[in-house]
Amino acid sequence: MANGPVFDNSKSEATHKGPLGRGNWATHIGFILAATGSAIGLGNIWKFPYITGEYGGGAFVLVYLVCVVIVGLPLMMAELIIGRRAQQNPVGAFQKLHREGSPWQLVGWLGVASGFVILSYYSVVAGWALAYIFKAIAGFQGTAEAIQGEFGELVGSPGQSILYHTIFMAMCIGIVIGGIKRGIERWSKILMPALFAILIGLATYGLVYTEGGGKALAFLFKPDFSKLGAEGVLSALGHAFFTLSLGMGAMITYGSYMKRDSKLVRDAIAVSFLDTVVALVAGIAIFSMVFHFGMEPGQSVGLIFKTLPVLFEQTGPLVSVPFFVLLTFAAVTSGISLLEVVVSYFVDRRGWSRITATLVLGIAIYLLGIFSAVSAWSVPFSGKGFFDLFDDFSTNYMLPIGGLLTCLFIAWVMKDKDRADEFGSRGALYMGLKFFLRYITPVAVLAVILHGLELLPFMEYGN
Ligand code: TRP
Repeated sequence: MANGPVFDNSKSEATHKGPLGRGNWATHIGFILAATGSAIGLGNIWKFPYITGEYGGGAFVLVYLVCVVIVGLPLMMAELIIGRRAQQNPVGAFQKLHREGSPWQLVGWLGVASGFVILSYYSVVAGWALAYIFKAIAGFQGTAEAIQGEFGELVGSPGQSILYHTIFMAMCIGIVIGGIKRGIERWSKILMPALFAILIGLATYGLVYTEGGGKALAFLFKPDFSKLGAEGVLSALGHAFFTLSLGMGAMITYGSYMKRDSKLVRDAIAVSFLDTVVALVAGIAIFSMVFHFGMEPGQSVGLIFKTLPVLFEQTGPLVSVPFFVLLTFAAVTSGISLLEVVVSYFVDRRGWSRITATLVLGIAIYLLGIFSAVSAWSVPFSGKGFFDLFDDFSTNYMLPIGGLLTCLFIAWVMKDKDRADEFGSRGALYMGLKFFLRYITPVAVLAVILHGLELLPFMEYGN
């Protein structure tokens, strides 16, 4: 359907690929696992524990849970509703639900661009996780300083960083080439249960076999508001966004492969719930070990790649290898969702075959990622590394802006009939969601954007 009308599905109906020839999830659980796989990623296992540590534990967790409910859940429903209604990639979806050529398609474009940029550096971090599987198998040895220093060596070595980035991107490309059912769904069904099993194992180890379990639980669930501050609240809000894969059309894309008969509201709740539980359980596993060995919880970015390996020297490979396998699996199922957003646009709207689209775009993203993998390269005239620039720009600007516009679109522009049909009712719950999407969620997201720009009136930005 390269040059034909975009919404003409007559040609492909005869194929085995379902309506529009673009594929569907084979099973309901397959969709849940794929969407949960997108949501559960480095954000849950790497970022959540360290920002929780930074903002003092329980109070941050509490605020984060509130953010998931008032921002995350409504936006997750919004994206799934848009995707399933339109049965299109993000760029096509906004046009189909508004009009062909509508300026709202820019939101879709922003999403495709975000997927491109995020995956390029996400793959570099995922590559580190992969590299650490091999380090864990070999065993962490030597002084604490030597073990921590290994991370700097890895990051500082372009050859190694690029090698693992290459392997990770090859895995993502290999899975996405297989398509929805035989690629993404099949692998999510293998990797996600494995991830849950490893995580339960590690948390049990933390609670039962280390002395740090009680302290970890207290740290995560006893609120101490003294370290939180407005800064912590806004970080919680921003994180709720990132961890649920919102703001760039990932859930629009995954929603577009959903069948009409599944209950979208229930699914959105299930995915958000599982994502949150995994973050908390990962926190329990990690902080039990941290407290057991008498370390400090507020370790910032180095928590996973520097602090934990020092502890793993004591625990041995039985704990460390599963840990980094867990991290890698989580990253793979998120990486494929980022790639799928980009690929779906070229398949739906440009008529490329899935194989061509996946190879061409996967390789393009891979090449962009090399800039982030070589930490010595910095952006001309800024003094900032590409990695930091891409990360900062996408999480602080592209995703929140994409999320805000998506929210405004569904709340104020989309036809009520389209919305309500997908939601499944017009009862009190529907009215509640509409109210949130109109008045609460956009205000909260706007606060995150303004904070990123250091423009919030009641905050002190020190300049
Ligand atoms: N949610 C993932 C994580 O927590 C990251 C991710 C995957 C993502 N797909 C996304 C973030 C789409 C934003 C948008 O690691």
